[in-house]
Amino acid sequence: MFSRFSILSIKVGTLLILSGGFSGTAGATNFDESKVGHYTLPDVLTANDGTRITNSAEWYSLRRPEILEAYRDHIFGRSPQPGTNVTFHVWETATNALNGIAVRKQVEINFSGTTSGPIAHLLLYTPANQSAVPTFLCLQFNGNYTVDPDPGIAIFPELNPKSGLHEMPTNPRRGAAARNWKIAETLAHGYGVAFIDYREIEPDLPHGAGMPYGVRKNFPAPNAGDWGAIGAWAWGVSRALDYLETDKNVDAKRVILFGFSRLGKTALWAGAQDTRFAAVIANCSGEMGAALSRRDYGETVNDILARFPYWMCGNFQQYSNHWDRLPVDSHMLISLIAPRPLFLNTGSDDRWSDPHGEFLAAQAATPVYELLGRTGITETNFPPLDHLLLHDLSFNCHTGKHDILQTDWDDFLIFADHIFQTQK
Ligand code: GCU
Repeated sequence: MFSRFSILSIKVGTLLILSGGFSGTAGATNFDESKVGHYTLPDVLTANDGTRITNSAEWYSLRRPEILEAYRDHIFGRSPQPGTNVTFHVWETATNALNGIAVRKQVEINFSGTTSGPIAHLLLYTPANQSAVPTFLCLQFNGNYTVDPDPGIAIFPELNPKSGLHEMPTNPRRGAAARNWKIAETLAHGYGVAFIDYREIEPDLPHGAGMPYGVRKNFPAPNAGDWGAIGAWAWGVSRALDYLETDKNVDAKRVILFGFSRLGKTALWAGAQDTRFAAVIANCSGEMGAALSRRDYGETVNDILARFPYWMCGNFQQYSNHWDRLPVDSHMLISLIAPRPLFLNTGSDDRWSDPHGEFLAAQAATPVYELLGRTGITETNFPPLDHLLLHDLSFNCHTGKHDILQTDWDDFLIFADHIFQTQK
C-alpha cells in the first residue's frame, strides 16, 4: 500500500530471523507530513451497496447501522447488552462538600450484583442546592482520590497484578491528578462532574491479562469478533450512565462523556454505541480514536497491534500492514456520534496522536453533521493553536503535549455552554 511497507517488510523479515516469530512491530514512526502517502477514505455517505445517502432517514436506516456493524465486526468488537445484574449502592451523600459548593455522592457499581463483582466506584459532585444538572462523566486513569484533595473521597484497594489481590495503594496522594480537572469552575457553570477509574471496569494489563478481573469475565469467553478491552470500558461507562439516570441531581439526558487518550478512544466508541450520551469530548484520542488510520503519521494500526492488541477485537489483527483494507476510518467513528455534539481536542506536541489526522477526520465527517442539520468543520485549514473551532463538531489544538490542560477545561465549558444553550 505505502512505500514504507516495502521497507517494513525487510525489517519484519530481519525480526523473523532474529526472533523466530513475527513481532508485529511497525517500522520507524513517520512524523514528516510530506511522507504521509496517498490514501482514499471510504465515503461516509455511500452505503455498501452503492446507494448515495441524501437524507437523514437513509442515514439512520441504512448507512449508520452498517458503519456501526463494521466497527463491531472489525474494530472494537460486539459488546453485549447490560446482561448481568448490575447494582448501584449510593453509600454516601454529603451535602456540604468542597466547602459547601457541592453535593458529593459516592456510589458503588457492582457489575454482577454478586460478591465476585467487579466493583467500580463512581464519584459525583453536583452544585449545591441544584437538581437535574447537565453532567460531565469523566473516565479517568486512577483512583478517584487523585482528582481532588477533598479528604472525603474514599480510597479503595486496587488490583495488584502480581498477587491478583486487591490491596490498599501505598502512599496514595490525594489530588495527585487535580491539575487535569476544574471541578469548582465546572460546578460554578451549573454542571455536575462524575469520575470513574477505568481500571475498576477492567484492569488494563499487557496481553489482556486484566480480563479475568474485569467486566468481561461475566460474559462468555471472547472469540474473534467479540469485544476487546476498549469495548469493555465503553460497556462499563454505559452502566455508569444507567446509574446517573436514577439520580435526580443529574439530568441524564444531558451527560457529556469525557475521555483522554485511550479513554478518548473509549469515549468515542461508547458514544457511538450508546446514543443516550448527549455529547462526547475526546481529548488526544489519536490512533483508533479520532485520528485517521490510513494516514501514515504518528502511531499506526501496526503500533496498536504490536502493543495493545487486546484493546481491539480479534478480527482487527488482519489489518496489520493493510490499513487500506479497513472497512472504516475514524471519520466514520465520528459520524456515529452525529448529530450529537462532539469535541476533539488535540495537542501541538502530541505528534504520536496525529492532531492533523484528527482535524482531517472531523472535516471528512462534516457532511454527516450537515446532513443531520448540524454544524461541522467548515474551516479549510488547521486552526491556529489554542483557537477553538466551536461547532456541533468542535476542534481545538492546544499548545503543548499529550495532556488535559486547565485551559482545555475552559474550552470544554465553552463547548458545554454552547451546546446546552443552543439545543435546549
Ligand atoms: C499509548 C498508546 C496510545 C494511547 C496512549 C494512552 O501512547 O500508543 O494509543 O492513546 O498510550 O492512552 O495514554
